[in-house]
Amino acid sequence: MRPAALDRLGAAVRGRTPALVVNVEALERNLATMQTACTAAGRALRPHVKGHKSPWIAHAQLRHGAVGVCAATLAEAQTMVGGGVTDLHLTSALAPAKLGALFELAAVATVSVVVDDVAQVEALAVAGAGSRNRVGVLIELDAGQDRAGAAPGQLVAIAAGIASSPALELVGVQAYEGHLQQLPDAAERRLRAHAAYDAAAACVHELQQAGHPVQRVTCAGTGTLEPALDHSLPTEVQPGSYALADASYRAAGVDRYEQAAFVIASVLGVRPDATLIVDAGVKAVSGDLGPAAVAFPPGAAYTPAGDEHGRVAGGAHALRTGDLVALVPSHSDTTVCLHRRFVVVTDDGHDHGTLPIGA
Ligand SMILES: Cc1ncc(COP(=O)(O)O)c(C=O)c1O
Repeated sequence: MRPAALDRLGAAVRGRTPALVVNVEALERNLATMQTACTAAGRALRPHVKGHKSPWIAHAQLRHGAVGVCAATLAEAQTMVGGGVTDLHLTSALAPAKLGALFELAAVATVSVVVDDVAQVEALAVAGAGSRNRVGVLIELDAGQDRAGAAPGQLVAIAAGIASSPALELVGVQAYEGHLQQLPDAAERRLRAHAAYDAAAACVHELQQAGHPVQRVTCAGTGTLEPALDHSLPTEVQPGSYALADASYRAAGVDRYEQAAFVIASVLGVRPDATLIVDAGVKAVSGDLGPAAVAFPPGAAYTPAGDEHGRVAGGAHALRTGDLVALVPSHSDTTVCLHRRFVVVTDDGHDHGTLPIGA
């Protein structure tokens, strides 16, 4: 959406501020850019939907050529499968009480999930006992994030546990290097990502030597896409933020993707020092990766001023009460989940209805 297009935003946005707006044309261009890169490198693209939580956007990604999608939570998985997605990978382990629901999803979709210890495999096998449906399993490796990942020496025992359950099938490994995504130095990002993939390759070798098949090696977010595509190990990449983009990725120099998501806020008042008070606070735009940037008015800066209020200071403009400002989320994932719907607009600012945002 071009800044001038703000003038054309109609009642769908003006009556709904703070409104989360998606420029569907920029979104489509981002999906094409990503798919083209993955196809050229001969790797499967399985986009992560945790950022947009929208089956409609997931289907657009599939239309562009994605092989399936990734979800982070059971609720996201249910939203996607309920919305007609038929190939889904859960990139986080689930609490044992949720595992039965995974086998229900597997009745209508191809479903896989990560595990990183034997206890999780046992819980999965118990949940799947008696089920007619099989769930694929990927062993999560610690790619350096120190959040998940099979302990050294445990790989083969985990694989053997998976092989011994008729409800489970070992599909491969996941080596997600989340801590590297926004390293501002691209050369360092690449070096450390390649070191993580080299370590993962040794794990894959260990599994294969023990007779366990490893068909899929999945990794990478938007920030490590290029290093993943030019390393020989990954068969699949799982970036998510590229679809909507955000200011924190842009600040880290990952600027290949257009900004497609904006929070549009209304000016509620103008302080004596010309600071605008807008109707977007911490309930409308997240601050975990810093304050939102301001797309319009140019040159201005946003700071939160409470749950429902924000300050927009600086920039050359003559905005008054009732006018609109456009904020660029610093982190799109944690901003989208604050909203129930996207208002869909095109480059020229015309609106085309709304899209629900799932759980
Ligand atoms: C396991 C996993 N894979 C992929 C992604 C996508 O990364 P990004 O949104 O940085 O592209 C995330 C994001 O947090 C993730 O947690």
